[in-house]
Amino acid sequence: MAVLLTGGAGYIGSHTALCILNAGQDVVVLDNLSNASPEALRRVSELTGKDVPLFVGDCADKDALNRVFDQYKIDQVIHFAGLKAVGESVAQPLRYYRNNLDATLTLCEVMQAHQCFDLVFSSSATVYGTIQEMPLRETFPLGCTNPYGWTKFMSEQILRDLSHADERFHVVLLRYFNPVGAHESGRIGEDPSGIPNNLMPFICQVVSGRRKELSVFGNDYPTRDGTGVRDYIHVMDLAEGHLAALAYAREHAGTEVFNLGTGVGYSVLELVHAFEEVNGVRVPYRVTPRRPGDIATCYADPAKATNLLHWEAKRSLADMCRDAWNWQKNNPNGYHEAQ
Ligand code: WQD
Repeated sequence: MAVLLTGGAGYIGSHTALCILNAGQDVVVLDNLSNASPEALRRVSELTGKDVPLFVGDCADKDALNRVFDQYKIDQVIHFAGLKAVGESVAQPLRYYRNNLDATLTLCEVMQAHQCFDLVFSSSATVYGTIQEMPLRETFPLGCTNPYGWTKFMSEQILRDLSHADERFHVVLLRYFNPVGAHESGRIGEDPSGIPNNLMPFICQVVSGRRKELSVFGNDYPTRDGTGVRDYIHVMDLAEGHLAALAYAREHAGTEVFNLGTGVGYSVLELVHAFEEVNGVRVPYRVTPRRPGDIATCYADPAKATNLLHWEAKRSLADMCRDAWNWQKNNPNGYHEAQ
């Protein structure tokens, strides 16, 4: 029996694969490698001593998915595969709706045909939109501000309706806050293509000399120091949350949704200073105007995941900064050969 990870060669997928393998379960990956490298899975194998079969293909390709289920006995699935750049989704909405929704719909059809009914879905805190009340709870009303977020919202709805119509389905929706950091070995980590959109990889590339300076997007927000506040969560804590979600899915029919965050918000400057302190480096930055679409503050109430998944984030902001820099230092060009 194996767990299928769609998009499992990516940042969160590869860390989750490592976690599941170390827990003694087998993993199979389907990934189109549009935003991932097979090197990540080679290193996961190196770290765990376990094989990680990789099928290169698209989750919306029914034949590709059937090949996986025909060759391996898949008893559970974690669905990571999808396009995830907020800004890009605003510019290319049809591409995002087509890609992300087709992937979810095709996966569900193939799972049903192969009598596989446990599904953990990679959702996002972005579905909460611009809610001001913090901390965010799963019962809060949803409302997205970009097509990427709407694809997560719509996939959640598709899965709720499916598990209502077909009671064999056990679905867990995981709403991630801000995943950062890397496995402590420094052998796997976040390898964004092009200019990083997200804060932590950008900081790492500034300190490594690949970027000139960090632009702090606004210091006039109603927060402690005027810069944006987010709930940063170590990617290994997130990976362990997926392991807990698989165990929950085994025992519970229907659909359940959980926030995966630490419950603590840190500002941009607080993260910058933590990074400098723990790594003994300087992060040159300049305050620039706000980034359109950004909100002031976003952090989770993770109590439901603690109570029902028996999971909570354990790693500190210092751990996140240390492990992120350890990965960057050891892999200045990510998974690409030294350039
Ligand atoms: C964090 C903070 C920025 C970059 C995004 C997606 C979300 C999810 C996680 C997928 C904000 C500030 C950033 C920079 C900066 N992804 N910042 N300079 O926007 O909270 O969430 O990633 O699910 O959907 O929206 O993360 O890392 O981009 O920004 O000042 O160069 O850092 O303004 O306050 P965000 P982020």
